[in-house]
Amino acid sequence: MESNESEPFSEKLRVPEALTFDDVLLRPKESRVEPDAADVSTKVTKNVDLQIPILSAAMDTVTEAGMAIGMAREGGLGVLHRNMDTAAMEASIIQVKRADELVIRRENVVTASPDQTVDDVDAMMEQKGVSGAPVVDDDDTVLGIISGTDIRPYLEVGENDEVREAMTDEVVTAAEDVSARDALELMYDHKIERVPIVDDEDRLVGLLTMQGILARRENENAARDADGRLRVGAAVGPFEEERAVAADEAGADVLFIDCAHAHNLNVLDSAEAITESVDADVVVGNVGTKEAAEACVDFADGIKVGIGPGSICTTRVVSGAGMPQITAVAEVADVASQQDVPVIADGGIRYSGDAIKAIAAGADAVMLGSYFAGTDEAPGRVITMNGKKYKQYRGMGSVGAMQSGGGERYLKEENDEDYVPEGVEAATPYTGTLASELHQLVGGMQSGMGYVGAETIPGFKRRAEFVRVSAAGQTEGHPHDVMITDEAPNYSPNE
Ligand code: XMP
Repeated sequence: MESNESEPFSEKLRVPEALTFDDVLLRPKESRVEPDAADVSTKVTKNVDLQIPILSAAMDTVTEAGMAIGMAREGGLGVLHRNMDTAAMEASIIQVKRADELVIRRENVVTASPDQTVDDVDAMMEQKGVSGAPVVDDDDTVLGIISGTDIRPYLEVGENDEVREAMTDEVVTAAEDVSARDALELMYDHKIERVPIVDDEDRLVGLLTMQGILARRENENAARDADGRLRVGAAVGPFEEERAVAADEAGADVLFIDCAHAHNLNVLDSAEAITESVDADVVVGNVGTKEAAEACVDFADGIKVGIGPGSICTTRVVSGAGMPQITAVAEVADVASQQDVPVIADGGIRYSGDAIKAIAAGADAVMLGSYFAGTDEAPGRVITMNGKKYKQYRGMGSVGAMQSGGGERYLKEENDEDYVPEGVEAATPYTGTLASELHQLVGGMQSGMGYVGAETIPGFKRRAEFVRVSAAGQTEGHPHDVMITDEAPNYSPNE
């Protein structure tokens, strides 16, 4: 939208106000909602539901397969970064998809052959970390099963005996469509821990283990697709249609068009073309205004908001452009909610209170980078500086990340010295497990829902109201006039 040419320049200074997290607080309201009863399940795209409204950022110091598996097990979604080539991305998607599969597929089942020696099989099982293996002949017909109990010394099996002599040959198998419940019953009835899955001709197609079934029960809230596999997101560049199709075919549930300024019309054209060539849902981002939302709301399955709020971002200082995040989320949500397109608030979230404020402003879910970069599940190793532990965290528009291939999100040049970075490289305190970080984050968000008196995310979005906070109010809101002696798990004064 061009401004009126005859308009005096000084009119530009009659500017609307735009607010961010610290400018507002949730107005406490009458409530009967106990925080732990607040339901935080949400929609992250038109067709994908999550148990918790949380995504890990598509950054090379935040989300690779390990983080994506951890996020999905906890009910959220990890978005794989795009500083890896297409083959590595496909492998990562497949790794997440297979992580919690109920049936271990044939190619991943450790098997023994009947003429191997007992000693050999024992060493193989130890090396592969399994305690038993189906015994199959050359055409994969299941002949028996061998486990630690078959080859214990007191059974008088010689180490050079063949597996066919030591194995249990009355093997209980199941068909491919067996349910977890029936498989578990079979295991209890026969006092066994694994059931080979076979086709009509008794050929091995997979393996079900008691351990696998019980692990699945532990993660009841996990984000799963219709086949029970963990959900995963993948970031793709706006002009990377081939990569998008590869991610889709590898099984990604949601593709994230990864662009610092998605209101670029070439980006939007390409994003729209990508939505037409894939089955997965497509989130378009990042945007920060209602005009940008209007430009993509008809074809996007989700819209991601954030122009420069991130902890490692320098977009606003480098380019002079940006939108304070609470206002950006609200503007986009005004448009997106009309068409039931979910909104994701991406960047700038330091505390659980920020996350729930973003939801109050109209977001359906939040994406965080720095909050998760210090966890065990984030890529990279722990470094120690001055006796404290840290992990690396860098912007995808930093020189280091652009050198590793991430520059397309920003303005990448051929030569390193020509880069105009929009992010910095940093270190973030090591914080331990993802599960404990998420526990604090989700617990704090539920607490916000309790103060507002809302039991569900949609209800909270309608009921929440903001009050404006002065600079004095901000100071009052943090611990003050004391010296903190013990660190709280959810508050750091340096953030
Ligand atoms: P937080 O605050 O959670 O932000 O650490 C993560 C989000 O920041 C964005 N991002 C960047 N923005 N320059 C930017 O302006 C960068 O180099 C950069 N790298 C990441 C991204 O949206 C991420 O999810």
